Amino acid sequence: MAATLALAGCRQDMHNQPKFIPQRGTTFFASGRSVRPQVENTVARNQMDADSYFYTGLQGGKEGDGLPIPLTEATMERGQERFNIYCTPCHSRVGNGVGMIVQRGYRPAGNFHTDRLRNAPLGHFFTVMTNGYGAMPDYSAQLTPADRWAVAAYIRALQLSQDAKPSDVAAGGHVQELHAIAKDAGMPTGFADPWALPSTAVYGTPNGEDNGIPGQPMGTPPPGTGAHYGQAATQNSGQRNSGGAPSAPVSNGTPYGQPY
Ligand code: HEC
Repeated sequence: MAATLALAGCRQDMHNQPKFIPQRGTTFFASGRSVRPQVENTVARNQMDADSYFYTGLQGGKEGDGLPIPLTEATMERGQERFNIYCTPCHSRVGNGVGMIVQRGYRPAGNFHTDRLRNAPLGHFFTVMTNGYGAMPDYSAQLTPADRWAVAAYIRALQLSQDAKPSDVAAGGHVQELHAIAKDAGMPTGFADPWALPSTAVYGTPNGEDNGIPGQPMGTPPPGTGAHYGQAATQNSGQRNSGGAPSAPVSNGTPYGQPY
């Protein structure tokens, strides 16, 4: 008897712990649930397929093509919004690689309107955002994988926007040349011309690919350097090498006619 009492007495202290018994209610939380809901985006161990195309942009070790998320209007809007926040400072709103930071001397960012990038698989854009590319930092911390795919999808829309033919417009649609629109809108001469860059801009891509940026001396590193990085700024003509007469400085005193 004495032994039983003594044992029960010992047990009480451990018995009255402030703990939640599984599936039992509580007055502590307003919902009355002691089992808490999962934190958003929680992934149970072994349940994330980190090697999948969705997370890597790679198929069989190579950049894959195709969008691993549904292509909806919401996807495009999300992509546009994220692109305008994170990419336009360098790539500009139209994706020509001459954003505000570049106009002030940062290395020209990729121009999405070259044949090489028009033909690049969608996974290329995803891996560039995921891993960075040359002078471009990666955006994996700022953009979730789904957001990176949405931005990649939006880049495809940008590519079409700068390369559309009159035949792409639905019958009856109104087509007008950009210079004519600029003139009608009372913009200064040269507004619709290719964008000029300051002579301080430094050209080069990691592998010396043509990034289609105005004045970039492609594949011609200065003699003796053998390097593509940090090519002399003096090689910059300040003008796009792809057609069009050099644009005259605009009359309002600012060197760049475009907002960005
Ligand atoms: C801080 C400036 C900066 C920002 C912001 C930036 N980039 Fe870039 N990006 C660059 C530069 C610079 C290059 C060219 C790399 C080089 O020359 O070293 C580049 C190149 C690229 C290329 C071309 C790769 C190739 O194959 O030539 C793609 C695609 C690209 N960026 C996508 C993006 C996307 C999408 C975003 C937004 C999530 C973004 N970039 C944000 C600077 C930037």
